[in-house]
Amino acid sequence: MNLLVLGGAGYIGSHFVKLSLELGHNVIIVDNLLTGHKQSIPEKATFYEGDIRDRVFLNKVFEENKVDACIHFAASSLVGESMTKPMKYFDNNVYGTIILLEMMEKHNVKKIVFSSSAATYGAHEVMPITEEYETNPTSPYGESKLIMEKMMKWADVAYGMKYVSLRYFNVAGASTDSTIGEDHNPETHLIPIVLQVPLEKREFITIFGNDYKTFDGTCIRDYIHVEDLVDAHIKALEYLNQGNDSNIFNLGSETGFSNLQIVETARKVTNHPLPMKLGDRRPGDPDKLVATYQKAKKLLGWSPTKNIEDVIGSAWGFHQAHPNGYKE
Ligand code: UFG
Repeated sequence: MNLLVLGGAGYIGSHFVKLSLELGHNVIIVDNLLTGHKQSIPEKATFYEGDIRDRVFLNKVFEENKVDACIHFAASSLVGESMTKPMKYFDNNVYGTIILLEMMEKHNVKKIVFSSSAATYGAHEVMPITEEYETNPTSPYGESKLIMEKMMKWADVAYGMKYVSLRYFNVAGASTDSTIGEDHNPETHLIPIVLQVPLEKREFITIFGNDYKTFDGTCIRDYIHVEDLVDAHIKALEYLNQGNDSNIFNLGSETGFSNLQIVETARKVTNHPLPMKLGDRRPGDPDKLVATYQKAKKLLGWSPTKNIEDVIGSAWGFHQAHPNGYKE
């Protein structure tokens, strides 16, 4: 297929691009390189540097390429930043998606796989979270993802545009061959920050709060290996190709790990003592976020194949091979 990958130079997008090329798809990448890395773009992919909010630019991309489906990763994705810069999130994420859907309609592209988030659910008491749970985002980031899902719903009603929205839980890890991985600046995610200690880029890890309602007091998250995650996007494309209706799926592993368990696993994987300090709670962190993936298993034939050691081990492999990320 000819796949237009918006945000294809980013952390998750680049892993999707790698897999798609391995499967023989033709890949066109659009990325403004604000958080994406040019170094992650394979030679086999066609690359357009630009912003999806730029109607003239995006129109040109659609005019120059026959697009069978869009895979939409292009978004700002920091929950904390969204609390202080909400309009950035509505502009980049929501407005960007308006232009994308408009261009898809104009150029008669009828399929989109969308990168959504557990942040659409907000806080819930009872785990695991199913797709039936109420959506009450607690951040502009989560709200922007929910609005984007709703826009796709109405684009389906109006133009017959079919979408699969994938609500990611905590994505981590790197490609098994250590060629691509997570390189954010600033880094805010737990696993890459933990690994900065054995990489000697920080002296200790600070765990934000130990008075949450969990078995050891630290937050619990559901980690999903980025390679398992992008595989679900391929399965979502197949699902759309089979003529199925638009749908929403959680992507998680049904297993939660506390922040302390993550540090402990990283100690084992890296063989480093990994000194740790306890800090204050980080505002907006829910106690526990764990997903069921039964719907994706049933309708997409998808299940995660990698465990937490694989997640942390592959991230460690990438960071050891690229201690300065993509900068070298
Ligand atoms: N944490 C620390 N110390 C750190 C960094 C993180 O203790 O230095 C803790 C956080 O407080 C949290 C846990 O590690 O308890 C996980 O935090 P991350 O920032 O790695 O991930 P989040 O669960 O906050 O965010 C993830 C995705 C978002 C998504 C969100 C859904 O990264 O994109 O889940 O709620 F929106």
